[in-house]
Amino acid sequence: MSILEIPVMRGFVRLCNDGWHQGWHERNGGNLTYRLKESEVESLKKYLLPARGWVNMGVQAKNLAYERFITTGSGKFFRNIEQSAAENIGIVEINATGDSWRTVWGLEAGAVPTSEFPSHFMNHSIRKIATGGLNRVIYHAHTPNLIALTYILPLESREFTRALWQSATECPVVFPEGVGVVPWMVPGGADIAKATSEIMKSYPAAVWAHHGLFCSGKDFDETFGLMHTIEEAANIHLKVLSSGRPILQTITSDNLRQIAKAFNVKLNEAFLD
Ligand code: 13P
Ligand code: ZN
Repeated sequence: MSILEIPVMRGFVRLCNDGWHQGWHERNGGNLTYRLKESEVESLKKYLLPARGWVNMGVQAKNLAYERFITTGSGKFFRNIEQSAAENIGIVEINATGDSWRTVWGLEAGAVPTSEFPSHFMNHSIRKIATGGLNRVIYHAHTPNLIALTYILPLESREFTRALWQSATECPVVFPEGVGVVPWMVPGGADIAKATSEIMKSYPAAVWAHHGLFCSGKDFDETFGLMHTIEEAANIHLKVLSSGRPILQTITSDNLRQIAKAFNVKLNEAFLD
């Protein structure tokens, strides 16, 4: 049996493929990490071997010491993952101090984890705490409609959350906490990692101005679904703004409260009128 037939590996590759087909991963755009369960590590164990030495990340999270992550490779194209997974994705383990990784499978021919691994890592740390250990997936995609909105909406959580909640009736049910916004920053390092993880203390998703979106979730379905829902709402909002027609009606704050009651979710009141 190939390691790629193990369900968690299949799920990882499937999400990458789905994201590619959505048009969210031009060239090497976007990245995905998954924090493995102990039972999954057991099922993968015979394939895992420390291949290279420890690499310091520039960030630290004690609550992720000894964890193992599946990760996409830096500079790798989502388009190629299904065809040649071992060159484009890999499994890394974290050291005892929670500040370094080493490859234990894949990332062949000298590949390394995504350049956004520090952001993923800090987000994993924060979301692990925020969800009592349930969160396992961090997913970054270059979602075109949401990126377009970051040029015309104020870069504030309230503005983005309201625009998205009011663009599709299911949105407040899918992300009742709302979304956070990180202003434009240089990608790929410790600074943007720290800024994003601050946002992720309160929100399951963080918009990166003029760049894309980070989503978190307990499994691949939930995380992909969150990315998909937010990007679709952004698409609708952009279509409405682009129509050149005045907005005659929308989903009001009271409507949002009605949805919250009917679906038994708690909306962030600060975002309602
Ligand atoms: P990586 O190829 O290093 O994952 O970078 C892609 C990206 O989207 C950076 O934000
Ligand atoms: Zn990116």
